[in-house]
Amino acid sequence: MITLEKVCFAYEHEVALRYVDLQIEKGDSVVIQGPNGCGKSTLIKLLNGIIYPSEGHYFYKNHEITEKTLKDRQFAKWFHQQMGYVFQNADTQLFCGSVEEEIAFGPVQMGLPETEVRQRTEDCLQLFGIEKLRDRPPYHLSGGEKRKVSLACILSLNPEVLILDEPLAGLDEKTQDMLLEFLQSFHKAGKTLITITHNRQLAETIGNRFAVMNEEHELKMI
Ligand SMILES: Nc1ncnc2c1ncn2[C@@H]1O[C@H](COP(=O)(O)OP(=O)(O)OP(=O)(O)O)[C@@H](O)[C@H]1O
Ligand SMILES: [Mg+2]
Repeated sequence: MITLEKVCFAYEHEVALRYVDLQIEKGDSVVIQGPNGCGKSTLIKLLNGIIYPSEGHYFYKNHEITEKTLKDRQFAKWFHQQMGYVFQNADTQLFCGSVEEEIAFGPVQMGLPETEVRQRTEDCLQLFGIEKLRDRPPYHLSGGEKRKVSLACILSLNPEVLILDEPLAGLDEKTQDMLLEFLQSFHKAGKTLITITHNRQLAETIGNRFAVMNEEHELKMI
């Protein structure tokens, strides 16, 4: 479903990915680990079509993902609906006036009927136990609350592939357990998960394939 062929990426002065090959099948749960600064977040920005390979190729369901192919609005819409990406820093993801609007934003953009939007919004508020926050502006929430809201926003889109960058960071134990359970059921439902984490328990609980990046910005399956 996802294929990377000899993908390289460099920021202005900084190499972040070096000849990365990766093959992910539908239903895989891939866990990516590696030291700070090795390029993990860069890799998933690339998978999500936020940045593009400077060398090599990225294919999603046999479509090459490039700056050019994502300029086609219909193709871009299809692609972004498939991919749910939870940022490492929740702040960059929240911009609506209230938590409720924030969660409904994606489903509204997808053009879903109002009843479906309302249903999904309620389900996600409930899943994360954040019904009480529904009228609050997301920007003033605590770190953990923001993280719950950003997860709820992504899940309201019911994506095919869920990409998580340190999903447990900053969450209390109860929320961590709830999220773990959710991720396991998401995987059991045949969906594809890509998770970056430094948390060994999370890796062992949800992963069925494991990759490690090293300080040379290379990726190896283990
Ligand atoms: N926007 C940017 N501009 C320039 N350099 C960047 C940018 N983002 C990341 N880098 C650099 O690219 C390298 C890889 O960064 P990346 O964020 O992918 O690492 P990471 O593996 O996710 O690290 P961490 O475990 O700390 O989250 C680092 O050296 C980082 O300083
Ligand atoms: Mg990172």
